[in-house]
Amino acid sequence: MTDDRYTDDRYTDDWYRDARFGLFIHWGLYSLGAREEWLQHYERLDAGAYAARYFDRWDPDLYDPERWADAAAAAGMRYVVVTAKHHEGFCLWDSALTDFSAPNTPAGRDLLAPMLEAFRARGIRTGLYYSLIDWHHPDFMVDVFHPLRDDRDALAANAERNWDAYRSYLHGQVRELLTSYGRIDLLFADFSYGRDVDHGPDSFDRLRGKNRFDWHSEELLAMVRELQPGILVNDRMGLRNGYDITTPEQSVPGAWPERDGVRVRWEVCDTIGRGWGHRREDPGYKTALQLVTLLIDVVAKGGNLLLNVGPTARGEFDPVSSTRLAEIGGWLRRHGRSIYGCTQAPDGLSGALPPGVRATWNPESDRLYLHLTEWPPHALRIAGWQRKVAYAQLLHDASEVAVNEPAFVDGPVEGELHLRLPVERPDVVVPVVELFLEPGRPAVRS
Ligand code: GLC
Repeated sequence: MTDDRYTDDRYTDDWYRDARFGLFIHWGLYSLGAREEWLQHYERLDAGAYAARYFDRWDPDLYDPERWADAAAAAGMRYVVVTAKHHEGFCLWDSALTDFSAPNTPAGRDLLAPMLEAFRARGIRTGLYYSLIDWHHPDFMVDVFHPLRDDRDALAANAERNWDAYRSYLHGQVRELLTSYGRIDLLFADFSYGRDVDHGPDSFDRLRGKNRFDWHSEELLAMVRELQPGILVNDRMGLRNGYDITTPEQSVPGAWPERDGVRVRWEVCDTIGRGWGHRREDPGYKTALQLVTLLIDVVAKGGNLLLNVGPTARGEFDPVSSTRLAEIGGWLRRHGRSIYGCTQAPDGLSGALPPGVRATWNPESDRLYLHLTEWPPHALRIAGWQRKVAYAQLLHDASEVAVNEPAFVDGPVEGELHLRLPVERPDVVVPVVELFLEPGRPAVRS
């Protein structure tokens, strides 16, 4: 990137880029255990014991998807991705291919359909998480992540498991999900692991991992695109090409991720507490400041944030998550302009930023947003930017910020942009200065 234009046309006019902020929901039988969604793995529970403990006790009597959708809308979230099935194999929907599903529990109904409807009714795009891994299905070969990984008999029984049967179950369920629930905007398939080799028809190697050869990912992806032509698909089917979204989890890359020199569409998924599934004794929740900063950091590198809530088994968002969503929503109500439809600032406008300042840029309006996690006592000064800015204001209240009219305490410096800020830091989670850029501004290289 050498100039001030947004260079990759693939990402313009794109709902996903404009949305920037989504809700991830992890909800399943593990919510009853209240110690995260991998509890079956950690506690080495076989499918029978796990189902015996939780299946008949799944009774989310307070579940009201309208409330969830309201909370997401008020948080400023523009899309949702919900775990239709996680690794435990339990299905929130009425699958014709298994009895291990919500309608056969005390819940007695399909829990997915009303959720998707509630979110759509608020203009929120809908996505499905589908676990490629399945610790319930008898034909899913026991491997390193499987709850029975140390069980000799279970490992020996791999020889009798019919992998083709599992694979057609997987494809069949994805087909079901993409044909029975209207338009689905995003598929988050999860995940591939182990060596990227073809394990062959009945290789023992499959116990080390599963990959695109095992899932028949190319075929799966082709089916997905045929059934839902507009869908966006994540990168966890193990394919090298053909997917749409790169999905690092619980960590933000240092810079906009690239592939073969081209910036990719990407999304960080992250949690408010430690885990994805509900956890009663959570070792630590992120603060509103941390979460808002995370969102800014991601958008400043051209990505999206998919922020997770793990509802309780009764069907509610836990109080801390609800509070955090409301806090983020409160900030976004006034600062959404620096997030939605925004992306990384052009190179010439991002290099010289002082510490504690992150920039986003709206290519449509050509406005630049400076997010200040540190508040200077007098002014914000940026070398080399003097002739770039026509007007500036604080975003939360549209109050003018004087441009290049330095207070007498710190005189002008040649070439430096000088934004005189109020001494008192505005009482918002992260203050933002909105810069109206000079239309014919000279390009400055970083
Ligand atoms: C991982 C985990 C999982 C979680 C997911 C979210 O793959 O297995 O529990 O659902 O990441 O990105």
